[in-house]
Amino acid sequence: MAEIIIVRDQAEAGSVAASIFAKQIIANPGTVLGLATGSTPLSTYAALARAVREDRIDVSGVRGFALDEYLGVPPQHPESYRSVITREVVEPLGLTPDQVFTPRGTGPDITLAGAEYEAMITEAGGIDIQILGIGSNGHVGFNEPGSSLASTTRIKALAEQTRKDNARFFGSLEEVPTHCITQGLGTILRARQLVLLAFGANKADAVAAALEGPVSSAVPGSVIQQHARATVIIDEDAAAKLAHAEYYRHAWRSAQDLNAVAF
Ligand code: F6R
Repeated sequence: MAEIIIVRDQAEAGSVAASIFAKQIIANPGTVLGLATGSTPLSTYAALARAVREDRIDVSGVRGFALDEYLGVPPQHPESYRSVITREVVEPLGLTPDQVFTPRGTGPDITLAGAEYEAMITEAGGIDIQILGIGSNGHVGFNEPGSSLASTTRIKALAEQTRKDNARFFGSLEEVPTHCITQGLGTILRARQLVLLAFGANKADAVAAALEGPVSSAVPGSVIQQHARATVIIDEDAAAKLAHAEYYRHAWRSAQDLNAVAF
């Protein structure tokens, strides 16, 4: 079972998640990061950028792999995930663009792009720590309901719910791409550590189904239950439908008490 941490707000979640990432980067300065886009990871990226500015971590040796990219959207488009990762991760953390990779959503033989990306991740030694958000329909990456639990990076059709949720980043729903290229659930499960975050009442059903429902391709986020090293950091609104929230609070408090004990 994942460690589940219920926090006050996104700022607190960002600092808890960033401290997990920082610990990993300090232990291994060549860490390979798995990067999500969307709103959820922003407070984590901001907290990591602060840690870089204050010289608490050195990210010069890290590399990063984005989870996904829109199909047919050129990298220079402001809403391509390449551009988003540049704005939210590369620039604030002072990385060079060649430290971070995104699946290609354009170019020749696009059906080969998934296998190319898998090969690049393997070549880098695999992802050490992966940050994840979750869609209101339970997707992780862009693995929409029905995705194979063993899937690898490939082209997927976006669910209408996902296109509606992401219309806020585009001028209108019509401008939201219909397809994407996304790491698969099998790719995500191969990362050595997972950190999933979720905020707000519109994530409460997805969070409850992913953490407490059956492991099922109908709720792609439920794969997190199969990972041996996973942390889930959520605010009170996203935790509202968890049956065992009191136990998770108790377990987290006692883990902190144990950490505070000097052996
Ligand atoms: C983004 C991604 C998606 C988002 C999810 C939540 O790279 O893979 O799974 O994490 O759609 O989006 P936000 O964070 O915008 O609520």
